[in-house]
Amino acid sequence: MPKIAISGKGGVGKTTLAALLAHVYAQAGRKVLAIDADPAASLAYALGFPEDLVARIVPIAQMEELILERTGAKPGTVGGYFRLNPRVDDIPDQLSAEHQGIKLLQLGTIKQGGSGCICPESALLRNLVTHLLVARNEVVIMDMEAGIEHLGRGTAAAVDAFLIVVEPNRRSMGTAMRIHKLATDIGVPRYFLVANKVNDEEERAFIAAHSAGIPLAGTFPLDERVSAADRLGVAVFDAAPELVERAREIARFVDEAAPEIP
Ligand SMILES: Nc1ncnc2c1ncn2[C@@H]1O[C@H](COP(=O)(O)OP(=O)(O)O)[C@@H](O)[C@H]1O
Ligand SMILES: [Mg+2]
Repeated sequence: MPKIAISGKGGVGKTTLAALLAHVYAQAGRKVLAIDADPAASLAYALGFPEDLVARIVPIAQMEELILERTGAKPGTVGGYFRLNPRVDDIPDQLSAEHQGIKLLQLGTIKQGGSGCICPESALLRNLVTHLLVARNEVVIMDMEAGIEHLGRGTAAAVDAFLIVVEPNRRSMGTAMRIHKLATDIGVPRYFLVANKVNDEEERAFIAAHSAGIPLAGTFPLDERVSAADRLGVAVFDAAPELVERAREIARFVDEAAPEIP
């Protein structure tokens, strides 16, 4: 059951890829838990969750009573006593939203000092992410921002495939190289580029020339239906079947790169 983390510059297509992969694994009959770890949460929309369900989703970082109950301290408490190892194993099943066989957890934003701060809500989120990557018997797909603070040295090794999404332009390639450096620094073992919005050979060649030897897991074309789906509030996989096919190839690639431990 692969654990996949997705990063890259804003707007490159991380959320689109996360939704496509979630769909592909769910279609293959696997249990899928999608994690929206981007403060600018949008994975629910890409997965086609209906508006009223999206409106009811409360990010974990904003669940004040849960944080108090589990850590023994109120969110925003700095310097007080709280449990560094709060219970989290029931959170995925109890607190995720579900639509068409895909479960979704939204992590939310830590207001004070970011996710690196020593406060109750970051302790809960850190423990939760570790649990999701290490102990869940299902496919986990984590849609992250370009900063990868949710991953620590302890959890990086549990990521079966760390996918860095790029577009054929210098800025997204530059961001990818910085992310790659952060990922290798914390010990992520397997990372790949995914090229998105690629139109032609010249763009393909550009990415190959700037990839610094990071292996390419797959390529998606620029497809007007993807952005139209975003505007219309339709799941990306329902709007662009060809991209689902490409995502299936990436899933196969990931499965081969991270074989099940016998
Ligand atoms: N292959 C593609 N073709 C056309 N538009 C795309 C493609 N991939 C992503 N987009 C569009 O680009 C925008 C950013 O994509 P998104 O997946 O939200 O990126 P990120 O999560 O990296 O910020 C969205 O409007 C999305 O619909
Ligand atoms: Mg996104």
